[in-house]
Amino acid sequence: MIIAIDGPAASGKGTLARRLAAYYKLNHLDTGLTYRAVAAALLAKGLPLGDEGVAIDVARNLDLAKMDKSALAAHEIGEAASRVAVLGGLREELVRLQQSFGNKAPGAVLDGRDIGTVVCPDAKVKLFVTATSEARAKRRTNEMLSKGQEAEFESVLDDLKRRDARDSSRSVAPMKQADDAHLLDTTEMDIETAFQAAVDIIDRALAS
Ligand code: CDP
Ligand code: CDP
Repeated sequence: MIIAIDGPAASGKGTLARRLAAYYKLNHLDTGLTYRAVAAALLAKGLPLGDEGVAIDVARNLDLAKMDKSALAAHEIGEAASRVAVLGGLREELVRLQQSFGNKAPGAVLDGRDIGTVVCPDAKVKLFVTATSEARAKRRTNEMLSKGQEAEFESVLDDLKRRDARDSSRSVAPMKQADDAHLLDTTEMDIETAFQAAVDIIDRALAS
């Protein structure tokens, strides 16, 4: 069983995906981390983010079990990830990796931008999680401040909007709600309320 969760930056899809995976006893993959890991490797080598040959090489050697979320959380890595994410050949490589993760028993919750459209088009249930850009920027700002990082609401908001625009307008696998995805707008929802709303949608879909 595969549950596909897509949505823009800081919509809460990662938190939701983790909780749903625990609840339905499925594996979980935050596919954003795969793009972040490739971007971080290019940055560390001082290479341009458009160097697709090296990017593909890093992707081929990526060990999903060893990806360290906290080491990849920096704002600049998210920005760099969105730049490498336009590379079609790199995406092919990462999509293969993500699909083989999803195919392992007992199944998985995958979250990202193109799970319902490209990675797992046959997913049992698809959710597209959104919130207004202001709500998302507020969440991301609070998250950064709570980790002791500097963050200023207006600049976080500008960065999120720019990244979403790049992610939605790229020619390969743009961020897009799949035709058969359920929309979950979490603007007015806390994490618990969003989780309950998602469980309702999923249980209904599983029963039909
Ligand atoms: O994975 P994604 O970037 O979509 O978002 P996340 O990492 O799950 O959530 C971003 C931040 O928003 C985290 O600090 C969450 O705790 C917070 N959040 C929230 O305050 N309310 C929600 N309904 C969802 C997430
Ligand atoms: O946590 P947040 O939502 O800020 O970002 P992320 O999910 O870690 O993704 C970082 C970047 O990777 C995104 O801005 C996308 O450009 C890219 N990405 C993608 O293209 N496809 C995915 N399935 C996941 C992430």
